[in-house]
Amino acid sequence: MAERFYVTTPIYYVNDVPHLGTAYTTIAADALCRAHRLFGFETRFLTGTDEHGLKLATVAEERGEAPQAFVDRMSSPFRAAWPELGISNDDFIRTTEPRHKAFVQAFWSKVEARGDLYEGAYEDWYCVGCESFKTEKELEDGCCPVHKKPAQKVQEKTFFFRLAKYQDELLALYKERPEFIEPQTRRNEVVSFVSGGLRDLSVSRTSFSWGIPVPGHDGHVMYVWFDALANYLSALGGENGEFGHFWAPNSKVVHLVGKDILRFHTVYWPAFLLAAGYTRDELPTTVFAHGFLTIDGQKMSKSLRNAVDPIRLAREVGRDALRWYLLRSIAFGQDGDFSHEALLTRRDADLGKNIGNLLSRTLGLCTKFFESRVPGHHGDTPLETELHANVDREVATAEKAWREIDPTRALEATAAVGQLANQYVDRAAPWSTAKQGDMERTATILATLLAVIERISVLLMPVTPALADDMRAQLGLAPLTPVPGTNLWPNATPSRTAGETLSPRGPLVPVLDEAAKKALLEKLMPPREDPKMTNENASADVAPAAPALPVAPAAPAEALAPIAYDDFAKVDLRVGLVLSADRVPKKDKLLKLSVDVGEPEPRSIVAGLALSFKPEDLVNRRVVVVANLAPRDFGKGLVSHGMLLAAGPSENLRLATAPDDVAPGSKLK
Ligand code: MSP
Repeated sequence: MAERFYVTTPIYYVNDVPHLGTAYTTIAADALCRAHRLFGFETRFLTGTDEHGLKLATVAEERGEAPQAFVDRMSSPFRAAWPELGISNDDFIRTTEPRHKAFVQAFWSKVEARGDLYEGAYEDWYCVGCESFKTEKELEDGCCPVHKKPAQKVQEKTFFFRLAKYQDELLALYKERPEFIEPQTRRNEVVSFVSGGLRDLSVSRTSFSWGIPVPGHDGHVMYVWFDALANYLSALGGENGEFGHFWAPNSKVVHLVGKDILRFHTVYWPAFLLAAGYTRDELPTTVFAHGFLTIDGQKMSKSLRNAVDPIRLAREVGRDALRWYLLRSIAFGQDGDFSHEALLTRRDADLGKNIGNLLSRTLGLCTKFFESRVPGHHGDTPLETELHANVDREVATAEKAWREIDPTRALEATAAVGQLANQYVDRAAPWSTAKQGDMERTATILATLLAVIERISVLLMPVTPALADDMRAQLGLAPLTPVPGTNLWPNATPSRTAGETLSPRGPLVPVLDEAAKKALLEKLMPPREDPKMTNENASADVAPAAPALPVAPAAPAEALAPIAYDDFAKVDLRVGLVLSADRVPKKDKLLKLSVDVGEPEPRSIVAGLALSFKPEDLVNRRVVVVANLAPRDFGKGLVSHGMLLAAGPSENLRLATAPDDVAPGSKLK
């Protein structure tokens, strides 16, 4: 029986149009799904739109539209966008559909019948941007730290969900099934959040009506996240549909989300499922949180999001090139920057020069020497044996990486196969063997190359399906059709035999010359925003941010006596990844950090950074750590096991950092 794979994207709020951020998650989910289809999994891929809640009701009202008409209008751009990006979803769910409403109401009733809902009154803060409750402690000057807008004081009758009751069971889940939250750094964040204690959650609203009615309790509509999370099940057709098929202990269920909504998926969602009677075995396999993208170094403000339209990019630069770049250049799981220039450079280097040139040069030689036919193979030399061994290794690495939700690594291995084949052509030099009249050797070299190119065409299928089909057509091969139960990941045996015709038809991806590249960049690049205006709230009536304090003290640093290299080498300087950061009670300047420095356990480091950074701004940043400084005791059990490097006055420090692709624990030398 074929293994099963069910992958989902978040369902997107329809107050926005599809943008690069939502396209990123959707493309990643698509590539993962296509890879699993090739491995022979029976797959299901879901995306959709989230259409209830206060945020949408408010926007609809501001625009003078009825909420239903508004969400109907705003959902269609999502449905229309995804095919343009090569997305192969099986279903598109809208939370205003009857199939969803009916499912969620039944789900609610199950939770209620099991005793995990109770009536009460809620009195606290709410951020409409997040559609999330906030405690006083979480707010900064009354504002949501993410949206920078004032939180609303909410006071209303509500149903509470007994979230606190699930604290131990959730912690046991994270421990027992570490793959439930990926990547690992994210798991640490969630574990520390849940360990800090959970409060029961308000899950119904009575002050507005744009939501799914709570069954049997007039006046209550469900909290939008209770409604939204259940889409992953409602879309499977309830218990009589595909539910038991794809949502089952033997099906791999993966929710891809951005790091912004990790908590909803790893704390609320499993708790709701457990409360509705699902066992720990019946929870999703993995919630994978990827990082956030900036655009050309700037935060994705609304205007920037609109200026960098993924559909336009796909049309101008190539849909597959965009997909390749996003998954190859931005380490999946980490924050990354989208840059137009990097997109073009990556397209030219990997798809144009590396893989595209390999194809054209091989087919060109087959045309020249073998009348565009597949040449015969006349026995391997050590060169071929070495090539095959290296290619086998990369092909296996790519498969493992896809299975482990690591597209970046998978594409790195795919590109490596192209590089190996290009090195092989240079070493085997078929043009010289032909010149020397050794046509058997020339035929063997070209047949070997065709076999490797065929393997590359399969490796490319998850991410650049159209280019993969184009390559196959040039090789005279039909597109590959996945079959559940059969792993089509490429082995070394070519499908074509000697004498069959090839169909070269020009470059796979044309490489641009400098002038053409410059012209395309000018066309694509959005005007650079004033950094003061990149905030979502930016408008003419917002006071400009205070000018930044100077980063370095005015006086030059005092020169110290020279030291020998050996003395410098005694300092263990390493790259660290900040896993968590917390204020230290009664110590205004100090933050307590947990930092991964490449050791089995993270280090606890106390740093005087609190005047310059909010704790949450440090999480996930790469820093430079002095790892062999003797521990420093701050009293009351607070001990620092290392020091971070920074420059500037203590109220405006800048951290020494390292690029995102440097592994925690890497030595600085
Ligand atoms: N409706 C909720 C999700 C409910 S899922 C049961 C929601 N919607 S959203 O429209 O705000 O989409 C958030 C998601 O969009 C992120 O989790 C991420 O997948 C994607 N992104 C939005 N901005 C992004 C970046 N700047 N970078 C990368 N992904 C981003 O939250």
